[in-house]
Amino acid sequence: MKQLKVIQGDITQFQGDAIVNAANTTLMGGGGVDGAIHRAAGPALYAACEKFHGCPTGEARITSGFNLPAKYIIHTPGPIWRGGYSGEPQLLANSYQNSLRLADRYGCQTVAFPSISTGVYAYPLGKAAAIAVQTIQKFMVKARNIREVTMVCFDTKTFQAYQDQVEHRLP
Ligand code: APR
Repeated sequence: MKQLKVIQGDITQFQGDAIVNAANTTLMGGGGVDGAIHRAAGPALYAACEKFHGCPTGEARITSGFNLPAKYIIHTPGPIWRGGYSGEPQLLANSYQNSLRLADRYGCQTVAFPSISTGVYAYPLGKAAAIAVQTIQKFMVKARNIREVTMVCFDTKTFQAYQDQVEHRLP
């Protein structure tokens, strides 16, 4: 039974197959969840990311999870919010879709996402949550390996925004 779960917590603790990192286009680490994942995964992650020479917004790259419980980390730079008329909605959807495609291709059954772009990149939370849930639910219909996606929200406000989307969207 394929499902989308919403929990509150720290994504570096996720015990599943893959976690997604809200990265930037350099893939060289940063603050927020990117910083937390690099700290928890260890310095080998930095070296593994260097070989990509960056990643365009909305695309995704996969590495080992190194010291994390998760087997893989999927890095995707979400869009920076610039008012909503610079293609942000499609770029955010691309980040979720390309991350799910990679996870599915690598045989992952369980995948965790943070709330991409709603921190430093200032994407309005409600708008981002709607795009995230819609994109994930659409992908899950055709997923070959992924059977469970978990939104790991770091604070209550974020948790509520994603929970609202999951509860109120038609299946
Ligand atoms: N687990 C889960 N979620 C987390 C964690 C964590 N350990 N730490 C932070 N978050 C949440 C934030 O609270 C926010 O809801 O991740 C969400 C995304 O926020 P950011 O990490 O700021 O990511 P984003 O808005 O996509 O901005 C990306 O920030 O850290 C830099 O290098 C990163 O330049 C990039 C930019």
